[in-house]
Amino acid sequence: MNVKNINIKKGYVDSDIDKNIDVLKEIEHLKKEKNAIILAHYYQTGDIQDIADFVGDSLALSQEAAKTKAKIIVFAGVHFMAETAKILTPKSKVLIPDLNAGCSLADSCPFDEFEKFVKQHPDHIVISYVNTTAKIKTLTDICCTSTNALQIVNSLPQEQKIIFAPDRNLGNYINRITGRNMVVWNGACHVHEEFSVEGILNLKKEYPGAKVISHPECQKPVQLISDYIGSTAALLKYTSTDNSKEYIVATESGILHQMKKNNPEKLFIVAPPKDSTCGCNDCNFMKKITIKKIYNTLKFEQPEVILDNEILVKAKKSIDNMLEISRKLNL
Ligand code: 13P
Ligand code: SF4
Repeated sequence: MNVKNINIKKGYVDSDIDKNIDVLKEIEHLKKEKNAIILAHYYQTGDIQDIADFVGDSLALSQEAAKTKAKIIVFAGVHFMAETAKILTPKSKVLIPDLNAGCSLADSCPFDEFEKFVKQHPDHIVISYVNTTAKIKTLTDICCTSTNALQIVNSLPQEQKIIFAPDRNLGNYINRITGRNMVVWNGACHVHEEFSVEGILNLKKEYPGAKVISHPECQKPVQLISDYIGSTAALLKYTSTDNSKEYIVATESGILHQMKKNNPEKLFIVAPPKDSTCGCNDCNFMKKITIKKIYNTLKFEQPEVILDNEILVKAKKSIDNMLEISRKLNL
């Protein structure tokens, strides 16, 4: 390895790739040579989804990480997802192609403030969305993802007091459909909060037969004009089983790659954000991962996700609880 080539000051390995090499072929070769796998979230670009060993939503990716025998996991997603993989497979080397691939939702729940909040509600069970840092998971009783959040809440007695963090839109959505009164942390995702009701209704005029489908991280007015609300995996399943031909999709645009692949005869239209110039239906954190960075990460085995052992052990309990409940519910 030419160590002089490596520069990770920017949070990723910045090393030129020889123009004569076929990067995709080389990635395949490095994966085999190093017993490595690439796990990719549905919000990654299509080229990355296509080279991944496994593509999934955050629940499926945790389940896959929990059972892998690979020595190296390259996580094509955001930092909290790679941390979750590390917590579940502490013996594997978990690499993330860009350490700056963060998450505005995870950032909206700082540890000190959340710790105070939890102390103010001593008789509450803490359910946290997987979109949190490992440190927040140490304050959490049960983790959840958008795919199992409702079932996890429903698995607790109706009278059980619950703190739900960090996404206010998902938390309030669950309160609305279960009739519960969970205490909801005031966090949000900058991508899902940006969809415009007016823009979606204007698109509906252009495509009157299109169904509006949205992720529960979207704001309530978007949810209320939606024909279907569901997690990443649920939206994918819905578009393959429902018999409409056109959909206006209010979630991160990377998901359209699989929707189109699974249903080439259908039309998928990205819902517009409030600011039509911001392009913010693309998660800028997810899109920090590129094929070139994946190649460099595999080659130089950097940057690595490192977690303090005490945090790792404490955080694992909440993820194990989630996986156990999901297993019992066949999710
Ligand atoms: P999923 O749980 O649907 O994979 O969502 C992850 C995410 O980042 C949503 O914005
Ligand atoms: Fe985080 Fe939102 Fe990006 Fe998902 S889409 S990773 S919640 S910032």
